Amino acid sequence: MQKLIIVAAATNHIIGKDNRLLWRLSGDMQFFKAQTTGHAVIMGRKTFESMGRPLPHRLNIIITRDMSYAKENCLTAHSLDEAFRLAAEHGAEKAFVIGGGEIYRQAWHQADVLYLTRVAAALDGDTTVPSPDGDSYWTETGRTDYPADERNEYAYSIIRYQH
Ligand SMILES: NC(=O)c1ccc[n+]([C@@H]2O[C@H](COP(=O)([O-])OP(=O)(O)OC[C@H]3O[C@@H](n4cnc5c(N)ncnc54)[C@H](OP(=O)(O)O)[C@@H]3O)[C@@H](O)[C@H]2O)c1
Repeated sequence: MQKLIIVAAATNHIIGKDNRLLWRLSGDMQFFKAQTTGHAVIMGRKTFESMGRPLPHRLNIIITRDMSYAKENCLTAHSLDEAFRLAAEHGAEKAFVIGGGEIYRQAWHQADVLYLTRVAAALDGDTTVPSPDGDSYWTETGRTDYPADERNEYAYSIIRYQH
């Protein structure tokens, strides 16, 4: 099973504020949906609560320390390792770590592939991810740039990194 991270971050590495996202990027949402549909998605409990419902057509795995936590149509794990194990046991070919900051940090040097949407703005927020640039674990293998338009608040680049 391939382990992947998918994240969108501002130029100053901010990914969220007050448990919500900071931009409306329709192109990035389409990319996220196309990549993750049919696969496992692994997320921290706070990210799940900010979405409020499981993502359709995906195996949703929530990581929490709360041993009694249970949500309809979701699996619960109590560590990142357990989440990957559950995804593999359920036959997932790909397991995407989809946030948030705490979970990205733990997965950063465990994944095989990183999809980073770099949002062309420095924004104020309270949650960050590390930078793959200058990190010998990650090698950039592809990049596509997109302009801002009426459906995308900022210009952005989707960058693929491989371990
Ligand atoms: N830009 C993006 O691509 C993107 C994507 C996703 C999320 N986000 C943003 O990220 C922010 C949320 O991130 P966050 O760092 O605050 O929270 P988070 O990573 O979503 O969730 C943190 C929670 O995960 C659980 N957890 C973490 N490590 C664990 C471990 N080793 N074992 C068991 N449970 C563990 C704990 O849940 P319990 O407290 O229940 O024990 C912890 O409180 C929001 O602003 C959201 O909008 C951005």
